[in-house]
Amino acid sequence: MSLSGKNVLLIIGGGIAAYKALELIREISKRGGSVRAILTKAGAEFVTPLSVASLSGEKVFTDLFSLTDEAEMGHIELSRSADLVVVAPATADLLAKMAHGLANDLASTALLATDKRVLVAPAMNVRMWQHGATQRNIATLKSDNILFVGPDDGTMACGEFGPGRMAEPPAIADAIEAALAPSSRLLEGRHVLVTSGPTHEPIDPVRYIANRSSGKQGHAIAAAAARAGAKVTLVSGPVSIPDPPGVQVIRVEEAAQMLQAVEKALPADIAVFCAAVADWRIASHSEDKLKKTDAGPPALLLTPNPDILSTIAHRTADRPSLIVGFAAETSNVIDYARAKLDKKACDLIVANDVGGNSGVMGGDMNTVHIVSKDAVDSWPTLNKTDVAERLIALFAAKFTKKSRP
Ligand code: C5P
Repeated sequence: MSLSGKNVLLIIGGGIAAYKALELIREISKRGGSVRAILTKAGAEFVTPLSVASLSGEKVFTDLFSLTDEAEMGHIELSRSADLVVVAPATADLLAKMAHGLANDLASTALLATDKRVLVAPAMNVRMWQHGATQRNIATLKSDNILFVGPDDGTMACGEFGPGRMAEPPAIADAIEAALAPSSRLLEGRHVLVTSGPTHEPIDPVRYIANRSSGKQGHAIAAAAARAGAKVTLVSGPVSIPDPPGVQVIRVEEAAQMLQAVEKALPADIAVFCAAVADWRIASHSEDKLKKTDAGPPALLLTPNPDILSTIAHRTADRPSLIVGFAAETSNVIDYARAKLDKKACDLIVANDVGGNSGVMGGDMNTVHIVSKDAVDSWPTLNKTDVAERLIALFAAKFTKKSRP
């Protein structure tokens, strides 16, 4: 089992999503891991210590300062005996405490005292999530290397819609596995730049041109690079999937913004251009919403977008040593990929068939062909995480070979 022998210290904060922490305990146990839990005072308003103890099979540590707990196991020991500390739900208050180093209860003290990685699964009202203070705290926590899973978009218990729903327990358990996966640290000390997702090209303030890219493959590559020890910058178009843990994410909407963000993120050792960038944008989009008139529909004049991959691959200064492009085609996949390799001056093309009912765009599986100057390697159909793992191992091998004097 994937979490076999792993110990998780689960800190359950006070939010309606606390009930999902119970499911999370079951999910971790199902995968072979064990859980010791700290329930904050607010958390205990939503789930009882008894239910947490019954599911985890362990004594539950509460917010109340307890001499017995300290005698049996001090807070320092509690925070360090685990392999990973997980905060779920991570409330706005807990995130704020973590960002500022407050230690005024058992949960925040354990978080400050731990020497282990910390994964947080935020859950809060959408306005609280979007508040400048919360966003500043999140930026601080990310730069402190705290891992994030979620939040997801959706309808919340309070009736509002937007980001703030806690990630589902299986997704949190996946993030726990990822954080604990033994990694060969193939890319330790390297900077990997990844583009992912679609771009949205505005027609007017409310309409845009988009495509069906979900960002799943690009995000999986960024996550795998982070697990391999790289510093990862992920420049992502609009997607509805969570940020990968341990990755710096820069969100953009349009191709022009994506190019700007990529150029700003240089230098990088390896650049992987997985985004489905719109080839065209509206030549001059309207500042006002286009109106239906008797004169008929508007003619939309398109103009080419910059080719980000080609622009970076043709740079003389700061060209990443290994540049990888993607080719999503509906026919003649390998021929087009070869042509693209030349035209775009990249080192590798990962080609995939997105035609008809391949289900690649938005789906979880992918069948790819690795096209280099003198070879084509066709891989079996794999899930996108496995494709990402294999790609990272390949990039690491190519990078080492290239950078050898
Ligand atoms: O030409 P095509 O769009 O098929 O090329 C796909 C590859 O080029 C992908 O790696 C994609 O991320 C990249 N690309 C880009 N900027 C564009 C168009 C494509 O970086 N404007």
